Amino acid sequence: MYLIKVSQFCLALVGVASWCNAEKKPNIVMIVADDVGWNDVGFHGSNQIDTPNIDALGLNGIYFDRYYAQQSCTPSRSALLTGRYPIRLGYQGKPLHAGENRSISHDFWTLPKALKGLGYMNHLVGKWHLGSASKNFTPQAYGYDSHYGYLDGFVSYFDHDIQSDGHLGKDMYSDHQPLTNTTGEYFTDLVTRKSIEVIKNHPQEKPLHLVISHLAAHTGKSTSMGGFLEVASDEYNDKKYGYIPDKIRRMYAEIVERMDTSIGDVVEALDRKGILDNTIIVFFSDNGAPTNGFFKNRGSNFPFRGIKLSLFEGGVRVPAVVYSSKFKNKGRIYKN
Ligand SMILES: *[C@@H]1O[C@H](CO)[C@@H](O)[C@H](O)[C@H]1NC(C)=O
Ligand SMILES: *[C@@H]1O[C@H](CO)[C@@H](O)[C@H](O)[C@H]1NC(C)=O
Repeated sequence: MYLIKVSQFCLALVGVASWCNAEKKPNIVMIVADDVGWNDVGFHGSNQIDTPNIDALGLNGIYFDRYYAQQSCTPSRSALLTGRYPIRLGYQGKPLHAGENRSISHDFWTLPKALKGLGYMNHLVGKWHLGSASKNFTPQAYGYDSHYGYLDGFVSYFDHDIQSDGHLGKDMYSDHQPLTNTTGEYFTDLVTRKSIEVIKNHPQEKPLHLVISHLAAHTGKSTSMGGFLEVASDEYNDKKYGYIPDKIRRMYAEIVERMDTSIGDVVEALDRKGILDNTIIVFFSDNGAPTNGFFKNRGSNFPFRGIKLSLFEGGVRVPAVVYSSKFKNKGRIYKN
């Protein structure tokens, strides 16, 4: 677990730098999990999956008890980008197919555009899923300075490809440039490596807005039933999670754990850069877990009824925490 010790850090630097001053715009790092259920984080009592880094963000920040997302990826992410209900954008329905010819109108306010106006650099690492049929539909067209990752709903964890309408193809880009040399690198590790690189290379004098949009814990490899999970190490999986009888849930546990470790690495990178004290970190899932059926990952939304794609609590009420060193009452549970 990575421990947050920011206040001493800031005091130590107050003499040599001006970036501890209160007027400096905060950096904003949003970490979005894919298809992770309410009951699958330590702070909601999971005794099957360890998430010490996510738990620590809440312990040093605020746990959101009633954080509502939309019922699936595309609607959720469209709301996050624009601050509007998906029905205002025509995005209230099913998630987009790979390459589907639809997009959000450029007339709408978007968070990265607004932040750009305030001097922020905006980066997206990982999933987009808001349109990819033309360049004009991609993250850069909505205010992001860079995008590294995939444009559609999910990719396989090692090959970074997606099957859609019977076609199989790579969906992995660095600023529109197709990447084939990432094949074989586990996607969560790729996200970690790239996020740390963005943080390291960020010009200190500008505020940073970084969205880290994980593949974890969505299914990866495609099949007609939406795909199946892939873990980084089968050996580790059997050894660490042997106490979970269900094979898919065992894999799911490792995927969530690896994402949690990635979050610890990102927090550490922010600290090393000297900007953690002035960074707001938000973590949440884009919707409830698809426990069974399409894209099933055996995530758990207990004690809520319903799963991803449903409007019951299990589909839309998701684990969420926000961290900032500036909060006065840390570690509280916000129930509004
Ligand atoms: C996508 O939709 C737009 C607007 O309806 C249309 O003009 C365009 O030709 C379509 N592109 C493709 C590749 O179908
Ligand atoms: C992969 O290819 C891209 C584009 O050519 C290049 O910028 C990047 O450094 C390469 N990455 C690795 C790990 O070789």
